[in-house]
Amino acid sequence: MDILGISALYHDAAAALVRDGEVIAAAQQERFSRRKHDPSFPLDAIAYCLSEGGVAPDGLTAVAYYDKPLTTFVRILKSYVAAGPRGIRTFPTAMSEWTGRKLWTSYEIEKGIRSLGWNMPKQLLYAEHHISHAAAAFYPSPFDRAAILTMDGVGEWATSSIGLGRGRHVELLREQRFPDSLGLLYSAFTFHCGFRVNSGEYKLMGLAPYGEPTYVDTILDELVELRDDGSIRLDLKYFDFLAGRRMTNQRFDDLFGGPARKPEDPIGRRERDLAASIQQVIEEAVLRSAATAHDLTGEHHLVLAGGVALNCVANGRLLREGPFEKIWVQPAAGDAGSALGCAMWATHEILDQPRTVVLPDGMKGSYLGPNFEPDDVAASLTTAERPFTRIPDDTERAARVAELIDEGSVVAVFAGRMEFGPRALGNRSILADPRNPETQRTLNLKVKKREGFRPFAPAVLAEHAAEWFDLDVPSPYMTLVAQVSAERMLVPATVGGGNDPAGTDDATDLTDLVAQVRSTIPAVTHLDGSARVQTVDAEQAPSFHRILTAFHQRTGCPVLVNTSFNVRGEPIVGTPEDAYRCFMTTDIEHLLIEDCLLSKADQPPWTGPVPEPELD
Ligand SMILES: [Fe+2]
Repeated sequence: MDILGISALYHDAAAALVRDGEVIAAAQQERFSRRKHDPSFPLDAIAYCLSEGGVAPDGLTAVAYYDKPLTTFVRILKSYVAAGPRGIRTFPTAMSEWTGRKLWTSYEIEKGIRSLGWNMPKQLLYAEHHISHAAAAFYPSPFDRAAILTMDGVGEWATSSIGLGRGRHVELLREQRFPDSLGLLYSAFTFHCGFRVNSGEYKLMGLAPYGEPTYVDTILDELVELRDDGSIRLDLKYFDFLAGRRMTNQRFDDLFGGPARKPEDPIGRRERDLAASIQQVIEEAVLRSAATAHDLTGEHHLVLAGGVALNCVANGRLLREGPFEKIWVQPAAGDAGSALGCAMWATHEILDQPRTVVLPDGMKGSYLGPNFEPDDVAASLTTAERPFTRIPDDTERAARVAELIDEGSVVAVFAGRMEFGPRALGNRSILADPRNPETQRTLNLKVKKREGFRPFAPAVLAEHAAEWFDLDVPSPYMTLVAQVSAERMLVPATVGGGNDPAGTDDATDLTDLVAQVRSTIPAVTHLDGSARVQTVDAEQAPSFHRILTAFHQRTGCPVLVNTSFNVRGEPIVGTPEDAYRCFMTTDIEHLLIEDCLLSKADQPPWTGPVPEPELD
């Protein structure tokens, strides 16, 4: 039974193929189209999933779509009615988008699938948006039963939900409705701090440790009523999203001491404090919602999805302080993962297929995207006259990569199947030495071409994780934040940017703060001593595990910096050609594509275009 799941037309379009409940393939459209968060109908991702699964032209059992367009349309119409004249400017554009395209989703799906050479199956199933998130959180989780928490900007009407998963069934018990939305509240602050909505949320989270939560009372007194059960009520007089124009308005600006920061302006004390404040509010809301989910379901395990579930700082607190024994977060927690969610929902809930719980989980390490054969890679490198050394032996290859990193090089790795979800987990990754105090600055400015304050994440051998981080559970998908172990710290962790001596507020000071050496692995240690950890397991990620093992054997350190293989504003590389271009237009010194190792010094000069880093 082959079910194709599709998420499209809002942000982060994706496709997934589920066969008898097992995920066979999943990918985001942005990786093919090279447009970050591409919302377009995901033809390339669909073509990939169907080919990867070897689905015959008439072999699809059903197609599932991740939301109900008509219900969403009604919500948008009602929002415009509520907004009154304020919506007059954006109404025509919104309506033409809807009448021109979004209302015709079934037509678009059928046309798309036929254009690729497959027949449209009889069943086209529409899942509710938060059912898709809930299904993505529960079905691939390692639990037979679990409470479910989904939180995002908005689906049709729901903005968050509490649910229950049992065996093959998922049900929603309670939902919070638009316009009261934790995701939109967080996005409003993302916008106000000068980052891009639906994209820069994790930057805001990364900025939070540099600030003091001085605005928490203002937020809770004026903007949002946070109730004991975790539900919220926004005071709409501060927001403008009902009228579809921008997130916030003049009253919001007045409340927080001025207009939104412009994207390229320096990050000041105010933005840092706002980031710290909204982070604290979000954490409190997540903790209260989780407590309610616990009360309502009586379950011991919790699964999460929706964009807010990518807030790995909140997840870390939930694990430490919350009522659940175990939590599992869908690695593609945003709307991309809903393509997988709706396909699994169709399989189990609608078509009644049995569900098998897979350990450690059903996501296959999230390595669900395209891969490339080493022989093909070598052949095309040869044709293009790009010098390389082939190292077919796995151990020897890992040892060479570890040696280069130990010598101070930045090495990009392109190997195996592409990751599904926002994080690179070793197969499309840039690796560097976490012990080197210069690594963070070098990677940020010369390789990633992005703001200096942005933290890097460590990948650590799963079997050594507890010796380096206060973490006693696996975190294979970088969905948890944990403290660097006390014995690895060189200076006490600081909370709230407290070691900012002058209390000054320009960006230079932020960069200096970042550069302070706080632990024996400074490149991955935040100001507050925390790190967004990926634990790497030999079975789920064998080739990445070999590189870490070789680095550990050589240096005694089982940790590497792992950052996604892309530059600012660009999606993670999808093909060897993308990888080569990124390698040649940045200061990455070595590139491993499958078993072919390339060194920058050996390459002919790059004559292709040099992409300008874009705002992201
Ligand atoms: Fe969503």
